[in-house]
Amino acid sequence: MKDVDWAAMADMLEREGETHDPYVREAIGELEHLAPQRILDIGSGPGVVACLLAAAFPKAEVTAVDGTPELLARAERRAERSGVEVRTRVAEFPAGLDGLEPADLVWSGQVVHHVGDQQAALDRLAGLLAPGGVLTIVEGGLPERWLPRDLGFGRPGLQTRLDAATADRFAQMRAEQPGSVRVLEDWPGMLRAAGLTDARSKTFLVDRPAPLADGPRRYVRRLLERQRGAFAEVLDPEDVVTLDRLLDPADPAGIDRRQDLFLLTAKTVHFGRRPGS
Ligand SMILES: C[S@@+](CC[C@H](N)C(=O)[O-])C[C@H]1O[C@@H](n2cnc3c(N)ncnc32)[C@H](O)[C@@H]1O
Repeated sequence: MKDVDWAAMADMLEREGETHDPYVREAIGELEHLAPQRILDIGSGPGVVACLLAAAFPKAEVTAVDGTPELLARAERRAERSGVEVRTRVAEFPAGLDGLEPADLVWSGQVVHHVGDQQAALDRLAGLLAPGGVLTIVEGGLPERWLPRDLGFGRPGLQTRLDAATADRFAQMRAEQPGSVRVLEDWPGMLRAAGLTDARSKTFLVDRPAPLADGPRRYVRRLLERQRGAFAEVLDPEDVVTLDRLLDPADPAGIDRRQDLFLLTAKTVHFGRRPGS
């Protein structure tokens, strides 16, 4: 089921979670009316969201569930640092979810698209809900922007070409998932098909203006390093030279030193409720 070496991505995932946390806080704000006793974060990674959920709902028992023990170890350290209580459970999704107690809130961020049969995955997540419980999934949104269209060197529009390469790789990743099933990715429709009601979507902006602070700046570095590694063969040689220059710590036009680096993106969160009290 795993298409990626998640443990090797631990640092990037944690920085990504921290950089994107404004959208998580806003999405949790949409759940304020709930008084959950039990919360599951399925595919929690390093636990950034699980810790925010635990802080927002201090009376709830929060469990971070993931298939990568190294990431759950990070979640445990993070919870300790944040002064919140988060339980962890190593489990492969979806087969390993049996035995989890029903939850009033199930959160699953950017995980369902890593499962071959996405509708079956949503069915399984919906099945974890107690009556009246809410399933929250994060899928889709807008690609990230972090530099002007014209960087002052290289061919303008590098980010749109990186987006295209990312979309191709995503399509390949989907097609290569074991048991991959093509589905119309209408997430509220899929939540309804999973038996949930009140299905809706809301998109939240992450807007970190220039000059970017150190933490988000390190996240952009990790992201660019990853894209440089993954796309060197498919990009024009001129774009690879541009990426190398952006990644050069000594270059004043590189991402470590330039003052115009920002982070702008949007995340779409989909909500559905299990009928019942
Ligand atoms: C893109 S990360 C998302 C992390 C976090 N939910 C977030 O929104 O930042 C995907 C996470 O799902 C986990 N994962 C992916 N496929 C899985 C599977 N089949 N079983 C269990 N965990 C899985 C990975 O270990 C990783 O932590």
